Amino acid sequence: MYGLNWRVMAEFVVLGIESSCDETGVALVRAGTDLVPQLLGHALHTQVDMHADYGGVVPELASRDHIRRVVPLTRQALAQAGLALSAVDLVAFTRGPGLAGALLVGAGLACALGAALDKPVLGVHHLEGHLLAPFLGADAPRFPFVALLVSGGHTQLMRVDGVGRYTLLGETVDDAAGEAFDKSAKLLGLGYPGGPALARLAEAGNPAAYALPRPLLHSGNLDFSFAGLKTAVLTQIKRLAPQPLTDAQRANLAASAQAAIVDVLVKKSMVAVAQSGLRRLVVSGGVSANQRLRQQMDAASAQHGVRVHYPQLHLCTDNGAMIALAAAMRVQAGQAAPARQYAVDVLPRWPLDAL
Ligand code: KG4
Ligand code: ZN
Repeated sequence: MYGLNWRVMAEFVVLGIESSCDETGVALVRAGTDLVPQLLGHALHTQVDMHADYGGVVPELASRDHIRRVVPLTRQALAQAGLALSAVDLVAFTRGPGLAGALLVGAGLACALGAALDKPVLGVHHLEGHLLAPFLGADAPRFPFVALLVSGGHTQLMRVDGVGRYTLLGETVDDAAGEAFDKSAKLLGLGYPGGPALARLAEAGNPAAYALPRPLLHSGNLDFSFAGLKTAVLTQIKRLAPQPLTDAQRANLAASAQAAIVDVLVKKSMVAVAQSGLRRLVVSGGVSANQRLRQQMDAASAQHGVRVHYPQLHLCTDNGAMIALAAAMRVQAGQAAPARQYAVDVLPRWPLDAL
């Protein structure tokens, strides 16, 4: 069986394909028994401009664009790595969660390549990709750790004891942190996705200008709730109406919204770390690119004697590298047996703790 062979492969190359939402990413990672995983090539196309006119991701357009991009991006990643397709030992793809049609594109290419090359394929959990992304950097964490996963669709605190050993500690009961950024940004007239734009606008603002709610901050559990934030931002805008917001008011609202989100994320992470008895924290997912979150998390961690790790900035949002890496780490940990089975079956809904 192939799964058994993997344990003794000293060195192997994984091609990773990400197509769960609005980014097409393809990357090559070299890993092995005594190797620090190494990113060999990495190509990415974001559909942000295409969806911006609609104010959010249009699933059918996303699927079609993945189809257009995924093969040229694969060629690009291979060229960057200086490798031929024949050098690939394992083809990994995002199996879920995500948009069904979008996932099918990556799964379809992975299975086609696997079958053509006579190489095994492995479907990867998108959030496991985010979770493990910090291992592709100079400051790789060590197990066990607490992980704060903050993306456009998820906000979770997990205890991570090893590859595939994940315990959910708490999660959002409504909107995700990234969604809170995006919805607040939309109310301020910023484009889609608004997270990075809101963060830029906030630089000129005063985070204490408006007292926005920090829901569940003292709830005694590790759950989050962000749906009330957009209502609070809207209430402030209406309060200032009918005058249009001045630039200073917009910047102040952006800064206050960002401060509210970051405050809750940092405080709950510190509670989770304290409760776990661990001294290590990983923050990953698209929102982990946020500079205020990093600054505040660094400061709180220093105060509590916690070591905090992030993905490299260009690997925070969706990409193929984290998918290739997660596949490599899974097979190395004996947590997955990639097979020469080319069934294009994706899991649009797939809880991480079901792994
Ligand atoms: O992980 P990701 O690329 O996709 C999902 O798996 O959802 O995360 C995208 C989310 C979006 O909501 C985006 O606005 C947010 O991450 N984001 C940011 C920043 N960069 C991306 N939010 C705040 N500040 C940023 N710098
Ligand atoms: Zn993601």
